[in-house]
Amino acid sequence: MGNRIRRHADPFQCRVAVGVADWLERYCAAGHGDIWLDLGCGKGELLAGLAENHPEIFFIGIDVRRKIAETFFPRYRYVSNLVLLHGNANLSIPSMMGQKKVCRVLINFPDPCDHKPRYKKRQMVNERLVEGIRSILAPDGVVSVKTDRRELFHEMNTLFLSSLKPITAATAVPLSNPVVSEWEAECRKKSVSVFSREYGLGYDSQIE
Ligand SMILES: C[S@@+](CC[C@H](N)C(=O)[O-])C[C@H]1O[C@@H](n2cnc3c(N)ncnc32)[C@H](O)[C@@H]1O
Repeated sequence: MGNRIRRHADPFQCRVAVGVADWLERYCAAGHGDIWLDLGCGKGELLAGLAENHPEIFFIGIDVRRKIAETFFPRYRYVSNLVLLHGNANLSIPSMMGQKKVCRVLINFPDPCDHKPRYKKRQMVNERLVEGIRSILAPDGVVSVKTDRRELFHEMNTLFLSSLKPITAATAVPLSNPVVSEWEAECRKKSVSVFSREYGLGYDSQIE
């Protein structure tokens, strides 16, 4: 036994890919509608709030951390227009959407837990993910990105601008009853600045 070091499983090594079969039946049962996708949804509270306020929209959340999924997702099992799934977004986008298109992709505070350079490969937003998102986005679809880390924001902005067009703040349509994610609520409480931007395919006259 001696000095044996106990290693914890790294949740970001999760090889679980979400597929169409994980949500399509619920989507059909809910009566179809626009689809919104939250990548790295955490406990799923943001989507649960949105799902309550927008029964006409179908929400899918995905998070890589099994413990979070097992602890928090079951409490929203009965919300008919919401599916929260455990899996790795990097292994699931674009295949998890099949032929369906997404009206809004939410990426809120997608930071890995540890910001050390050696963990950079865990960063969810990379060139491949951006390409995948582009291919599942509806013609007038929107990708909304938020983070409190300036450097990460600029990095993600460069990646998204290589494939998508920015949408001006003036044309972003606010939801009637804005609900914020757990991390955004925390930033507001601590008066921490949040960097955010929205992107689209550029087929719309609203786009810069
Ligand atoms: C800082 S938390 C933010 C959670 C939530 N979006 C919010 O704003 O409150 C980042 C979340 O992204 C998740 N995440 C990171 N990489 C992921 C990946 N490749 N696939 C799915 N989820 C991921 C983490 O497990 C974590 O729950």
